[in-house]
Parts: sequence; C-alpha cells; structure tokens
Amino acid sequence: MDEIVFRSPRKKGRIAVFLSGRGSNFMAIRSAVERGAIDAEISLVLSNKADAPGLLRARDMGLETLFLDPKLFASREDYDRAIIGEIEGRRIDLICLAGYMRVLTPGLCEAFKYRIVNIHPALLPSFPGLHVQQKAIDWGVRFSGCTVHFVAAEVDMGPIILQAAVPVLQDDTEDTLAARILVEEHRIYPEAVGLYFAGRIEVRGRRVFILEPGA
Ligand code: GRF
Repeated sequence: MDEIVFRSPRKKGRIAVFLSGRGSNFMAIRSAVERGAIDAEISLVLSNKADAPGLLRARDMGLETLFLDPKLFASREDYDRAIIGEIEGRRIDLICLAGYMRVLTPGLCEAFKYRIVNIHPALLPSFPGLHVQQKAIDWGVRFSGCTVHFVAAEVDMGPIILQAAVPVLQDDTEDTLAARILVEEHRIYPEAVGLYFAGRIEVRGRRVFILEPGA
C-alpha cells in the first residue's frame, strides 16, 4: 500500500476562498457552512479583481474580503508571497480556489501543501486548462463533469478528492453543458470541504481515500 502522506484535520477550520468572478461555488460553500455541513468559518474571501461579483457579495454578507491588485507587484512570485503573508496572518487552514483565474506559483503551492483545493469543470485528467466545456463537446466525449482536487504546482493535476459525471448531449452548447456541470460543482465542492474538516480525507501516494466517519 502507498505511504500515507496526508490526513486532513478534524477541527473547526478557517477557510479562505479565492475567486475572480461570479462566485457561485463560493456561495455553495458558504451555504454549507451556514447549515453546519462544513465545520468551518469563512475567514477571508480574496480576489485579484476589484469588481468580482463574488467579492462584492462576500463584502455585502459582512465577510472579510481582500482585493490584492496584481498591478502593484513586480512579479507573480511577489504577489503570491503577499498572499502567503495574508493567509499565515489569519491562521487559515484551507484555501478553496473557486474560479480564481491565476495560476499559483510553486512557492504558494508548496507553502500550503494539501491545504489548497480547487474545483475544475471537467473530469481530470481529461481537459485541464480553460474553456473545457467546449473542449469536451468538440472532442465528442459522452460524459464530462467536475473534479475537486488538491492543488499541486502542475496545473489541474493534484490528487483527486471527488468527481461527478454528467452526460454530454448531442445538442449541448458550451453554456448548457456548463450549467449541467455547475449543478454538480455546487454539490461536490461543499461535500469535499466538509469531508476535509471532518478529518475524513487521507492521501496515500497520489490517491485520496475517503475515510468512514469516526475512523
Ligand atoms: C466554475 O466552473 C469552476 O469549476 C471553475 O470556474 C468556474 C467558477 O464559477 N474553476 P463560479 O465563480 O464559482 O460561479
């Protein structure tokens, strides 16, 4: 059996959500926190876009928000170093990327190994990158879906936590497929974060095992 390289903590956690856009996955995580399905609080919502709708909604809800302007930093490394400071200063346990449109530097990935998760709108390792719903249609796959995974330095390639599949229909457009996938995103992303703080996620080698409650 592969060596156990990580076991998620069973604790009331502190989450930071990073987003660049509308923030529907942020809202799904927020709802799950509110109804007690995730044993955590959202301690920060961070964005690289001042006017990201998700950031504005978080602010309206009274959550702590932070806009970090990429233009004020000389390099991606400097930007991500500033992020590391913000995250460490707030004792954040888990970063949830939710439509955050920047590639993380290796330094940031390493600083928070197994403490950054992402949602991707395809069944990884198929279709990493952008515009993946259209790519799935163009390729002619019969199923696509979404993937919650740990973030590693190689984009979209960290250990897979949960996936959900949806059919790709013959008359699908990018928008109709994206909408079908999004329903599943809103289901499995909060579920994965809930499992994380229930102490039920274990990584062996590059495989993630979901432990029984109380295991
Ligand atoms: C989602 O499709 C997610 O899978 C991808 O970016 C999109 C973000 O949507 N990473 P939203 O901002 O959460 O509504």
